[in-house]
Amino acid sequence: MENTGLAPGSVLRMETDASFLMSPAFVVAIDGPAGAGKSTVARQVAARLEGFRYVDTGAMYRAVTAYLHLENARDRDEQGMAEAARGLVMSGEQYVVHGRDVTGTIRDAEVTADVSRVAAVPAVRRVVQQLQREMTGKLVAEGRDIGSVVFPNAPLKVYLSASLIERARRRNRQYPEMKVDEYEDRIAKRDHMDSSREDSPLLRCDDAVAIDTSSLTIEEVVEQITALVRQRLRKEATPS
Ligand code: DC
Repeated sequence: MENTGLAPGSVLRMETDASFLMSPAFVVAIDGPAGAGKSTVARQVAARLEGFRYVDTGAMYRAVTAYLHLENARDRDEQGMAEAARGLVMSGEQYVVHGRDVTGTIRDAEVTADVSRVAAVPAVRRVVQQLQREMTGKLVAEGRDIGSVVFPNAPLKVYLSASLIERARRRNRQYPEMKVDEYEDRIAKRDHMDSSREDSPLLRCDDAVAIDTSSLTIEEVVEQITALVRQRLRKEATPS
């Protein structure tokens, strides 16, 4: 037999396991509860690093939820919700589901209040997670299950958290229409749903760098993560 120089089975793996071919070049996985600063931080980290793209995975679940609301179809069964998710198409920060642009409503209060329910549906998660795994290039992806489930081999995982009261204060500063204690209630409910669901719950991976942002500025957090990425990129570039 011709010596290909490849380990037994590796050709077969390359032909049959398409996800191997598609896996992104470098993923910074940022997970954590609502209001910990993930999106602001992830966006700025991506902007600061050459060639990195920011991926807001929560927005994908929000888009599916917004579409169900738009279609008056909140009570669809699991397969019906997954069917909605199969229609999700993203272009930059625009979200279209089965031809309907829902970008303008994904952050509405009623979508925010309902998204944890939709995101807990396993059939919906399978569709959305597959879309995420098909992304290529260098990514800064934030969500709840990025380091634990979507990209378990990510070279850098970060778990961002902050105390409940601090997260509620931040939301109130951003959207003053509700009081701090109302935000506390809502965020606590969402934390509970996101971390107690059976399918890919929010959890802190053992190999994630934990950062408590309660008393840090955005700049400080962005600086810490950017330094970690540069360190890991150097490590990857150095032959062992
Ligand atoms: O980060 P966010 O608030 O936009 O997320 C919206 C909801 O989506 C959140 O309640 C949990 C869910 N989510 C998830 O289950 N998995 C992700 N990777 C991202 C978000």
